[in-house]
Amino acid sequence: MTYALITGASKGIGKAIAIELAKKQNNILLVARNEVELKSTASEITKDHNVTCHFMALDLSQADAPKMLFDWCSKNSFNIDILVNNAGYGLSGSIDNYDFAAYQNMMQVNMSTPLNLTLLFLPMLKKQSKAYILNIASSAVYQAVPGLSIYAATKSFLFSMSRGLKFELRNSNVSVTVVNPGTTDTNFANRAKVTNERALKAAEKFNMTPTSVAKIAVEGMYARKAEIIPGFINKLGAFLAVILPKKILEGGAAGIYGV
Ligand SMILES: NC(=O)c1ccc[n+]([C@@H]2O[C@H](COP(=O)([O-])OP(=O)(O)OC[C@H]3O[C@@H](n4cnc5c(N)ncnc54)[C@H](OP(=O)(O)O)[C@@H]3O)[C@@H](O)[C@H]2O)c1
Repeated sequence: MTYALITGASKGIGKAIAIELAKKQNNILLVARNEVELKSTASEITKDHNVTCHFMALDLSQADAPKMLFDWCSKNSFNIDILVNNAGYGLSGSIDNYDFAAYQNMMQVNMSTPLNLTLLFLPMLKKQSKAYILNIASSAVYQAVPGLSIYAATKSFLFSMSRGLKFELRNSNVSVTVVNPGTTDTNFANRAKVTNERALKAAEKFNMTPTSVAKIAVEGMYARKAEIIPGFINKLGAFLAVILPKKILEGGAAGIYGV
């Protein structure tokens, strides 16, 4: 029996991806910190889609978390054919609003954990007839984002890692897809402590729903696409990031995030 393993699946985009994958009759493994939310998501998935769903409450900012997750899968003979690296968060405001420990935790969740999970699960993925890695990065990969500088840098890491790995695995059964969503209606802005009025207004205007992002992501994953930008506005943003001078793009972002 094979499973899709989704990190950050207690809410937001990760939960929506878990539901989309369950609709396609994949068995599901959910991971996040909030056990209550995981339990309710797992029972919703089991009830609505008639698939097997298990969960593990785990803090992915801990360096040993990926190994604990891998050992849990091995012990229970959970055979993974889809790995979704979705868990992630931002820290907004001036760079010196946070100390190094806060950035280290974010870098662990956004960069080191996806890398380590990839290294741990790749041998298992290679044994399947078809397997997928789906990484959730951000539209922030296309430019520097003053006011979200370190978050944007972590997502650039994940983006570049995904594109490189996709190419390295081109002759294998494992397909790698990276998704770069723009503003999406989840708990992201709240956790990132985005309080600037302009940023909140822009989000209200341009937010996509987690369900629409998840549908596009899962479709693109099965189509073995390398890179996906959900939504017209986000595609336009990525295009402008190529043609406009960096200083203008960075000034625009700084205005939105109030730095
Ligand atoms: N929303 C946006 O505008 C947007 C735009 C571009 C990219 N993204 C990316 O999309 C992904 C999903 O975010 P979202 O928008 O759905 O935000 P969200 O609603 O805050 O969901 C984030 C998920 O990650 C989990 N998570 C966070 N820290 C964790 C940790 N230390 N250990 C384990 N799980 C952790 C959360 O669960 P717990 O809190 O239960 O741990 C939750 O399930 C992130 O990688 C984010 O960077 C979001």
